[in-house]
Amino acid sequence: MPVTIIIGAQWGDEGKGRFVDWLATSADIVARFSGGDNAGHTIVLGKQVYKLHLIPSGILHPGVVALLGNGMVINPVNLVKEMDGLIAQGVSITPENFIISTRAHIITPAHIAFDRAKEKARGADAIGTTLRGIGPAYVDKIDRQGIRAGQMTDIESFTETLHTTLKNANHTLARDNVELLDVEKSSLDYLEAAARLRPYLQETAIYLNQRLKQGARVICEGAQGALLDVDHGSYPYVTSSSPSSGGALTGLGFGPTHVDCVLGIAKVFSTRVGGGPMPTEQDNAIGAQLRGTGSNQWDEYGTTTGRARRCGWLDLVMLRYSAAINGYTELAMTKLDVLSGFDELKIAVAYELDGNRYDYPPYDSAVLERVTPIYETLPGWQEDLTGARTPAELPANARAYLQRIGELIELPITSVSVGPERTQLVQL
Ligand code: GDP
Ligand code: IMO
Ligand code: MG
Repeated sequence: MPVTIIIGAQWGDEGKGRFVDWLATSADIVARFSGGDNAGHTIVLGKQVYKLHLIPSGILHPGVVALLGNGMVINPVNLVKEMDGLIAQGVSITPENFIISTRAHIITPAHIAFDRAKEKARGADAIGTTLRGIGPAYVDKIDRQGIRAGQMTDIESFTETLHTTLKNANHTLARDNVELLDVEKSSLDYLEAAARLRPYLQETAIYLNQRLKQGARVICEGAQGALLDVDHGSYPYVTSSSPSSGGALTGLGFGPTHVDCVLGIAKVFSTRVGGGPMPTEQDNAIGAQLRGTGSNQWDEYGTTTGRARRCGWLDLVMLRYSAAINGYTELAMTKLDVLSGFDELKIAVAYELDGNRYDYPPYDSAVLERVTPIYETLPGWQEDLTGARTPAELPANARAYLQRIGELIELPITSVSVGPERTQLVQL
């Protein structure tokens, strides 16, 4: 069967982009199904670094169709900017290799203003969103008052709807004493973007199903991570969509019978950006070592917002839950090279609170904030792994670390990356 779903198994930024890019060599279609430009997926090819926010990571492969699914929320102005940036980097983007669902929802400047205002109002309890308007756009979708991408085909009605939406938003913003939107300028920017994007719009679910019937191989490119899922994450410190494997089906419009591989991507340690519980966080020298100083592009600073990511030990309790809700058939791990230089490594195998043991994360974020991880300690290694290309070239302790993770999670770990470059990969 022809569909592989690739899911961020943790809190995002696991290295999904580089794995999608690597697997896209044997795909016909690479499709995003959830979220919007809150995502930041990095691909490194020699000296070229590509940072993708909306456009699927398959775009770099000639012959692959990159598809934005109905489950997404799309900022048209930012999408056009991203397209132009990639075109300037020599990437070909035409309606032949890039299509956008008519059913995806549009992020307007009003959504961004509301995201900002809500975060400010939350004060110390802020979620730490990417301020891209994601939450408010999904609210309008679920409230059945969103604007859909298909409306961009009728520029006149699109502009009129947008104009009215922004004017109405200004009433609310004025009431809340928040800076007003420049309705005329925003409308013009959106009008221009809509005219650019019109040729790319399609009924993508029908397209996808027709291609599947003809034997096409499809990669669904997850964004965010399963632990940020609105249902399964540490609510309310989550994103507003379903970045888990179930979301791929609704976010693209195909049935589960097509899927033969659900690949979870996990870093060999934990990172999180934004607020919310993170039981294995190391707000100390260990965390700083995992994060890096920012001098390398792969150091733990957000691809979308530049924020320093919180870092900590690998959390098997979270990963166990992630595997359960997604049905991973295998796991790929990233950033093994970053663990070189630790004398010992820790893996949280359970949590403890008030005499109770937790093998899965409790649903209540306030409880999750209070748990203490129960760690298993493994020996580290000092060797530089960035040149390794076969399992035999990894130190015995690195192999043992991966093997232990595989045992604990009861899943095959089929590959591990040892650097950000496309080829810095070891198949196990
Ligand atoms: P994504 O959102 O899941 O696609 O991940 P991001 O691109 O936001 O973050 C992953 C970061 O780690 C990027 O800077 C990648 O270039 C980098 N990266 C990916 N795999 C590896 C690896 O194996 N080693 C190192 N050092 N960096 C990696
Ligand atoms: P990729 O695809 C990491 C986080 C934000 C915040 C929460 C809600 O690159 O892995 P939102 O703007 O979605 O309303 O923010 O979700 N978040 C991500 N963290 N990687 C991402 O995407 C993220 N997308 C959203 O930091 O905590
Ligand atoms: Mg990212």
